[in-house]
Amino acid sequence: MRAYKDVFDASITDPAGFWADAAQAVTWTRAPRRILDDTNPPFYRWFPDAELNTSVNALDRHVAAGRGGQAALIYDSPVTSTKRVYTYAELLDETARCAGMLRSLGVNKGDRVVIYMPMIPEAVITMLACARLGAVHSVVFGGFAPHELAVRIDDVQPTVVVTASCGIEPARIVEYKPMLDDAVAMSEHPPAHCVVVQRDRHRCDMVEGRDVDWHHVMATASPAEAVPVAATDPLYVLYTSGTTGKPKGIVRDNGGHAVALLWSMRNIYDIEPGDVFWAASDVGWVVGHSYIVYAPLLYGATTVLYEGKPVGTPDPGAFWRVIAEYGVKVLFTAPTAIRVIRKEDPAAKHLAEHDISSLKYLFVAGERLDPDTYHWATDNLGVPVVDHWWQTETGWAIAANPMGVEQFPIKAGSPTKPMPGYDVQILHDDGYRCEPGEEGSICIALPLPPGTLPTLWNADARYEASYLSEHPGYYLTGDGGRFDSDGYLFVMGRTDDVINVAGHRLSTGAIEEVLAMHPSVAECAVIGVPDEIKGQAPRGLVVLKAGAEPQELTSELVALVREEIGAVAAFKMVDVVPALPKTRSGKILRKTLRGIAAGRDEPVPSTIEDASVLEALKTVLGQ
Ligand code: COA
Ligand code: AMP
Repeated sequence: MRAYKDVFDASITDPAGFWADAAQAVTWTRAPRRILDDTNPPFYRWFPDAELNTSVNALDRHVAAGRGGQAALIYDSPVTSTKRVYTYAELLDETARCAGMLRSLGVNKGDRVVIYMPMIPEAVITMLACARLGAVHSVVFGGFAPHELAVRIDDVQPTVVVTASCGIEPARIVEYKPMLDDAVAMSEHPPAHCVVVQRDRHRCDMVEGRDVDWHHVMATASPAEAVPVAATDPLYVLYTSGTTGKPKGIVRDNGGHAVALLWSMRNIYDIEPGDVFWAASDVGWVVGHSYIVYAPLLYGATTVLYEGKPVGTPDPGAFWRVIAEYGVKVLFTAPTAIRVIRKEDPAAKHLAEHDISSLKYLFVAGERLDPDTYHWATDNLGVPVVDHWWQTETGWAIAANPMGVEQFPIKAGSPTKPMPGYDVQILHDDGYRCEPGEEGSICIALPLPPGTLPTLWNADARYEASYLSEHPGYYLTGDGGRFDSDGYLFVMGRTDDVINVAGHRLSTGAIEEVLAMHPSVAECAVIGVPDEIKGQAPRGLVVLKAGAEPQELTSELVALVREEIGAVAAFKMVDVVPALPKTRSGKILRKTLRGIAAGRDEPVPSTIEDASVLEALKTVLGQ
C-alpha cells in the first residue's frame, strides 16, 4: 500500500501523470492522450480528447466481464413493503429499453431530461438511460415545490420530464404529478412529454397527448445502443442552493466523473467489486448521484436504494436491518440520520436485534459531524466512523480519511486530510495563507481535480463570479475552517448565506425572497440557527410594514415558504422584530446575524448604523 503522502504529493506535483494512471480504470471508446487542457484558465477540462459512455462503464462492461448475474441494485422500500434485486444483466436491459423509450420521445445526445421522482428504481434507470443516450439529466429533489421545479425546468429546458404518480413519506402521500403539472404551467419552456410511473398507492391523471405511462411504453420499447460522448460532454446538471434565490446548475462531465469516482471507491471507501455499498441519501442530492447511482455501479459493486427513513419505517433499527439483510460493507449517511436514531434509541437497543458484522465503515458527510454523534456511533457500531467533507460542486470528497490508502487516527470534528488533486489552502480575506491553527476561508488552488464542476450550466460568468473571483487562482468553497499542526482539516461552517438543514442545502436568500412576498412584510432576514437533530434550522426575522397587524403571520409565512420552496425548507420559526441591523449604507449585517445565531459573541461592526438594533436582536435570539 502506498502511503497517503506519496499519493497526495504525486497528484499535486504531476497531476497529469496521476490522473492518467487512474484513467486506466475506465473503459474508453477513445482513450485519453491528453490529460488536462489548461489553455483557457480559469476554465480547465480533463481528458479533452477522450470518448466514453458512462452507462457502458456502469453496466455493459460488467455484464461482458461475467458479472451479469451479480446484484447491481437492491431496492428496499419499507414504505411500500417491497424488496427487489436487479442483477447487472437486468439493470442493463431496463436501462437500454428506457433509453429506447426516451429516444422515441425525441431525446437525443445533448438533450436534457428532468427527473422528479421518489426513491424508486425507475429513477436510477432513467439516469443511466440518459447517460446511455448522451443526454443530460437533471434530477430535482422531490421535496421541492412547483415553483422551484419550474425554475429548474426553465433553466435546463428539458425535452422530457420523468416523474411518478406519488412519493410516500411516513405521514403522507406526496402527489408529484399535480406539482409537475403546476410547474409545467408556470414554465416558459415546457417539455414535449412527461413520462409517468403510476404507483399502486396513488394513481394520477394524465394529460392527453403530453403524458405517457412508463409501464405501457417500456413494455414495447426497443433497447438503445450506447452513444459515445466526449469525456468533457455533460453527464448531468444538478441544481444547488447559492446565496441568492436562483439555484446554481452544477455541471458534471462524463470522463473526469468516471475517473474520480472509480478512484474514490477503492481508495477512500475501501470497496472491492462485488461488495455491498449503501448510501442512505436521496437521488435528488449529489450524494445520491455519486454514491447511490454512479460510483458503486462503475466499480461493479452492489448498491442499495432505500425508500424509507432512519426512524419510523418502522423503527430506529431500520438501518441495522438493511445492513444485516444485504451484508452492507459501507454505510454512508448524514450525521442528522444518526442523531435522529440516537434520539429514539439512545441505548442502541435495536442494534442487538440485527447482525451487522458485515459493516466495516460508517462514512458521514453533508454537514459537520459533531463530536457527540461521532462518539455515539463509534461506541455502538464498533467500526471506524469516517467523516468526509465535500459539496455538490466537487461531486466527491475534498477531504477524507482514505481507508484504502492509509488509515489515519480519527480526530473528532475533522474530516482528516485533503484528497488527491485538492490543493486545499486556508486564506485570509486579504489573500495570504493562514498558519496552522488560524481560521480562514477554505480555498482550493486551481485546477480542481477530475470529477469536479467545470462550470455552471449556461453560466460561465456566474461560475467565475461565484467561485473564482474572490481569490484569483483559487476555488472558493464557501466554508470556513483551519488546518491543525498535523495537517488535519477542520471545517467550521459556511461563510455565506447557505445553510444545511438535515443535510439538505438551502439558501437563506431564497427563503427571504419568499417572506418578502407577504403583504405585511417590510423587510426580513433568514438565518440558520442550531438545531439538535437537523444541525441547523432556518429562522426568519421580519420587520412589518407600518400599520400591518396580521393575525396569523407565522402560519401564513410558514405556508408560503412550503408552497413556494417546498416541505424540504422545514421553515417553522418566525420572529417579528422592530428593525434589522444595517450598515450606514443600508446593507443588512448578515455575517453578524449568522455569528449571533451560532452563539458567538459578535463584535459590533464599525459600519453599523444603530448599535441598539443589534443589542435588541441578541435578546430575541436568546443571547
Ligand atoms: N419528497 C417529498 N417530501 C420530502 C422528501 C421527498 N423526497 N423528503 C423529505 N420530504 C419532506 C418531509 O416529509 C418533511 O415534510 P413535513 O414537513 O410534512 O414533515 C419535510 O420534507 C422536511 O424533511 P426532513 O428535513 O428530511 O425532515 P424529516 O423529519 O422528514 O426527516 C430525517 C428527518 C433526519 C429523518 C431526514 O432528514 C433524513 O433521513 N436525513 C438523512 C440525511 C440525508 O438524506 N441527507 C442528504 C444528503 S447526504
Ligand atoms: P451539499 O452541496 O449539499 O453537499 O452541501 C455542501 C456543504 O455541506 C459544504 O459546503 C459544507 O458546508 C457542508 N458539509 C458537507 N460535508 C461536510 C462535513 N463532512 N463537515 C462539515 N460540513 C460539511
